[in-house]
Amino acid sequence: MKDKVNDEVTRRNFLRSAASAAALAALPGVAAIAENPGPNDAVRYGFIGTGTQGCTLLRFLTTIPAGRCIATCDIYPPNLKKGVETIGSKPDTYEDYRQLLDRKDIDAVLIATPLYLHARMTIDALEAGKHVFIEKSMFFKEEEAEQIRKVSAAHPKQVLQVGLHRRSSVLYQTAMEMVGKGALGRVLLVQSRVTTHSSWRRPVADAKYERLINWRMYREYSGGLMAEMGSHFIDIANWAFEGEPVSVIGTGGLDYWKDGREVHDNIQSIFDYGGGGRHYFHCMLFNGHHSNGVMIMGDQGTLDITDDRGIYFREPVAKISSGPAKENWWAGATVSKAAAQKGVLIFPEKEAKDSGFVDRESLYARRWLASMGIYHPEEPYDPYWGELVNFFASIRENKAPVVPLEIGTADAMAVIKANRAIDTGQKTSWTKKSA
Ligand SMILES: NC(=O)c1ccc[n+]([C@@H]2O[C@H](COP(=O)([O-])OP(=O)(O)OC[C@H]3O[C@@H](n4cnc5c(N)ncnc54)[C@H](O)[C@@H]3O)[C@@H](O)[C@H]2O)c1
Repeated sequence: MKDKVNDEVTRRNFLRSAASAAALAALPGVAAIAENPGPNDAVRYGFIGTGTQGCTLLRFLTTIPAGRCIATCDIYPPNLKKGVETIGSKPDTYEDYRQLLDRKDIDAVLIATPLYLHARMTIDALEAGKHVFIEKSMFFKEEEAEQIRKVSAAHPKQVLQVGLHRRSSVLYQTAMEMVGKGALGRVLLVQSRVTTHSSWRRPVADAKYERLINWRMYREYSGGLMAEMGSHFIDIANWAFEGEPVSVIGTGGLDYWKDGREVHDNIQSIFDYGGGGRHYFHCMLFNGHHSNGVMIMGDQGTLDITDDRGIYFREPVAKISSGPAKENWWAGATVSKAAAQKGVLIFPEKEAKDSGFVDRESLYARRWLASMGIYHPEEPYDPYWGELVNFFASIRENKAPVVPLEIGTADAMAVIKANRAIDTGQKTSWTKKSA
């Protein structure tokens, strides 16, 4: 894909075109495949890594007739068994993923193994002629970006999709439409967070499995909180700013869960996108007060998004009188200052109760957003389900995946650079675009 990119194209435009191809790939495919599965053209796939995320995806896969699971693979017998039970289609099972890749009757593989294995398995699968869905982050080490890019370029007919599932979320697609259509004005700050009061540690019955089960805790296998949590929100910021950062600073520590782990239990980072655009991300495991979410903030408004709802706040404009006086909204619409400051629920509609004047104003504002084509009443499907349907649609319809190599590369590269900034205490810069 990179070969087609003109050197003159800026980093922002480059990712914008990747993102638009992805957006085009998203919704129509979902409807077409879900409603009209061809009986003989289901994509035959194998699933590698049937642990926690693997089984989450397998549960969604049971409802997607566009794909048929004919093999699974895991090196940990209890998880191999769980995967087979979850998909329920009596797949053949393997402990060595290369044996699964040798099967000529497998069109595609989905991979949900620990991060340090992502690049090796993606490359081997592409070289074995398979379409690939790889969980985020796409790769663990900086040099793996180029290795994957080369192999993917040598297999241009094979789909390579990265599991950044928010790209398949109608809520986030709506948010980005609002950004694109100027509802927030000039976007200058993305603030995101993942906060929880939990150890992140998984129980281990036999100590010999500690590093296999708690791989996230060890630097040999894991990019820690930035890779596991931050990658999702780095991608949201890349999407909002239509590019990738130019530099990042960060800090963090292992200050609370001193239980033998090697990765930090709290991190804070600021990504600079140039032109005043910044993304502040923080993650902690000792306090869950603020939960997960992202705020996209422009000079005319804010989108405050958690995974099940989004609220749009209009930035109060100078010289607005209080009370029922109307302020001018973007594109000539008006709404009371009170409604603007309370926030307009853009998602989901069922939470919008009418308890008086301000809620009616809010309803008016939602109708106005709908008339502009940037309001959708409810998420019609789970984004995990959507990304899987989109993966099969890309294969069957020979179209760009919803999260192509470029988006996955920009995301994984930012994770690596942010971790470097945190570890060294130095600002880390991008000298060239990542993909
Ligand atoms: N997109 C999301 O929202 C999301 C959520 C959770 C996890 N993930 C990603 O999914 C991946 C897996 O995370 P998880 O929480 O499921 O981890 P996990 O440890 O629960 O599962 C990983 C599985 O891979 C297996 N495995 C390890 N080495 C293997 C090998 N050589 N061959 C075959 N199988 C092997 C393990 O036995 C385990 O069953 C990670 O990259 C993680 O970042 C994504």
